Amino acid sequence: MMWMSSKALRLPDAVIGPGHDFAASVIEGLSRTRKSLPCRFFYDARGSALFEEITKLPEYYPTRTEIAILEAHAAEMAESVPERAVLVEFGSGSSRKTEILLKHVRDLAAYVPVDVSASALDDAKRRLLERFPALSVRPVVGDFSRTLAFPDDLIKAHKLGFFPGSTIGNFSPAAARRLLGAMRDMLSPEGRLIIGVDLKKDARALVRAYNDQDGVTAAFNLNLLARINRELDGFFALDCFRHEAIYDPREGRIEMHLVSIKDQAASVRGRWFRFLAGETIHTENSYKYTISQFQDLARSAGWLPGRVWRDAGNLFGVHELIACLKR
Ligand code: TRP
Repeated sequence: MMWMSSKALRLPDAVIGPGHDFAASVIEGLSRTRKSLPCRFFYDARGSALFEEITKLPEYYPTRTEIAILEAHAAEMAESVPERAVLVEFGSGSSRKTEILLKHVRDLAAYVPVDVSASALDDAKRRLLERFPALSVRPVVGDFSRTLAFPDDLIKAHKLGFFPGSTIGNFSPAAARRLLGAMRDMLSPEGRLIIGVDLKKDARALVRAYNDQDGVTAAFNLNLLARINRELDGFFALDCFRHEAIYDPREGRIEMHLVSIKDQAASVRGRWFRFLAGETIHTENSYKYTISQFQDLARSAGWLPGRVWRDAGNLFGVHELIACLKR
């Protein structure tokens, strides 16, 4: 897979799955025997705001733990980055974690944040320039798991990838391997990737993180149905579905579902779907990896595992991956 282009390149369907547009994807997902909705549609304006709230919840340990790890070790992470390198971030959002790295990398040629949200990129750029006036910020609007337009003039630079938030865990292991492989191709020949990965741990602590007391994660999950109602002329009775988070130890993943609390029907653009009481719509997975499981996955995608930084409580890991293998 080649990602180095000034034009947006489409990744093969094997990476992205079929169905580009919201309506088609929703109808396809709800037509399955085991209903599901693609998680990439969580992040409209309301969903993005709710997600920001999730990251501040007492139960949701990943964000604050990863930030603490970055604060403690950013100097080491930046250590082997040569001058005039390019920092590329996948799904940069508010770029808050990036600021921690930027304090330590010297003389970057550019910071390239990639995100689906143009407004998030604008806000982040404005904020970063106040703090780092000499930084060249070159935002790319796009879904990093599907396409990537990389600025032409930066293709030859040494690249450091940054992929925090354990977003890699929201892909199936097979899709994660393909994505890591595509990132490796993009960041090569001498690139490195700093990637945050949530660790396997006690199932109760995991479930709590995805089912908080205040119901913010529930609101985030249910917003997907609200968005269908708003944008696709949908008819979902929002109070007839409830949020559920379960840990599947066999798969090593948290699953988020929307459970129908009674026999009912719902519609999307005039198409009706029946739900039995207790039937669920599977909306997201969040895979958890031990350090060595993730290193094996990275190796299978052509990366050489480097250093690993984690918190004292063993909640979260930040991996350094090195693209020095010939593929
Ligand atoms: N990638 C993070 C995780 O899996 C953040 C995240 C993505 C998330 N979707 C979510 C958190 C839904 C809570 C609910 O933890």
